[in-house]
Amino acid sequence: MNKKIFSGVQPTGNLHLGNYLGAIKNFVELNNDKNNKCIFCVVDLHAITTKQDPLELKKNIRETVATFLASGIDPKKSIIFNQSMVSAHSEAAWILSCVSKIGWLNRMTQFKEKAGKDKEKASIGLYSYPVLMAADILLYDSSHVPVGDDQKQHLELCRDIAQKFNNDFNAPQFLKVPEPLIKKEFSRIMSLKDGLKKMSKSDPSDLSRINLTDDNDQIVNKIKKAKTDPMPMPESSKDLSKRPEAENLLGIYSSVTNNTLEKSIIEFQGKNFSEFKERLAEVLVEKILPISKEIKKLLNDSKYLDDIMLDGSNKAGIIATKKIKEIKLLVGF
Ligand code: AMP
Ligand code: TRP
Repeated sequence: MNKKIFSGVQPTGNLHLGNYLGAIKNFVELNNDKNNKCIFCVVDLHAITTKQDPLELKKNIRETVATFLASGIDPKKSIIFNQSMVSAHSEAAWILSCVSKIGWLNRMTQFKEKAGKDKEKASIGLYSYPVLMAADILLYDSSHVPVGDDQKQHLELCRDIAQKFNNDFNAPQFLKVPEPLIKKEFSRIMSLKDGLKKMSKSDPSDLSRINLTDDNDQIVNKIKKAKTDPMPMPESSKDLSKRPEAENLLGIYSSVTNNTLEKSIIEFQGKNFSEFKERLAEVLVEKILPISKEIKKLLNDSKYLDDIMLDGSNKAGIIATKKIKEIKLLVGF
């Protein structure tokens, strides 16, 4: 079956190993399958739901495109663009926000986490963020959406919004209800400092994550300092319960080497953590360093990156403009 793939990454800096293993690595595989039509979006409108410095934002938009390219997404096969250049996203988000229920949005855990204790001070944009995400997906009749585990709830909401719109406007199947593509394993990479916390761009400790722009020494040092427990390497996956740090590091190793967790456990059983960490740092350097070098090289050529976005926006714009026209007709405009 031909799949229509859509996914987005926020240009909020510090793209890390979690973004890579949870999302971008899968984008590359989908890009390489010629049966797929892929669109990868730098979701800059989502980024401004929390305060951004305009100069930093511009830099981060280019860095996100550079990361897509450096990881292996081919702009000749897939559309790469940034959201703010296609105005249909904002228009569709408004219309869809008028069919979405407050009760649905009140359940979103990401808002609760990001808004923290003082909800009153969060922006309205942060609250309606998942509706904009639904607009992104639905404008392109996307069939599949590859994301990390943390976006599951937003995708369920997107499906509800599509069905409600189709119902409200008596247009069965008009908005395509998308399927999530979330890997069963390793779709939630945890912090190197706390195996119960997600690896995140906004963690104040840089030691908590491997950034995709880290160099050899940074990667080796971060793995050396990663939290572990005093027990020896596990003998079986049963030994991993209540050992979140060991589970996370073995998960990272398995994902990077494309092995199952079971195989990795067998490889290191009976060995000590320092030996495992040395090997983990080696495979990470092998994987991340070429990407990191390529990102830095691409960032020297802003015109090239801007041209890719311009070309991608033109292509995405054609698809999205047609869909938003149909949406407006259905609404009665
Ligand atoms: P964001 O940086 O929030 O725009 O996320 C971009 C993509 O990376 C989304 O598909 C997320 O689900 C994924 N992602 C972010 N953090 C992690 C993590 N710690 N583990 C796995 N996937 C992640
Ligand atoms: N909300 C996603 C995240 O933070 C990013 C995103 C925006 C997205 N629009 C999307 C992901 C559409 C998939 C499809 O990770």
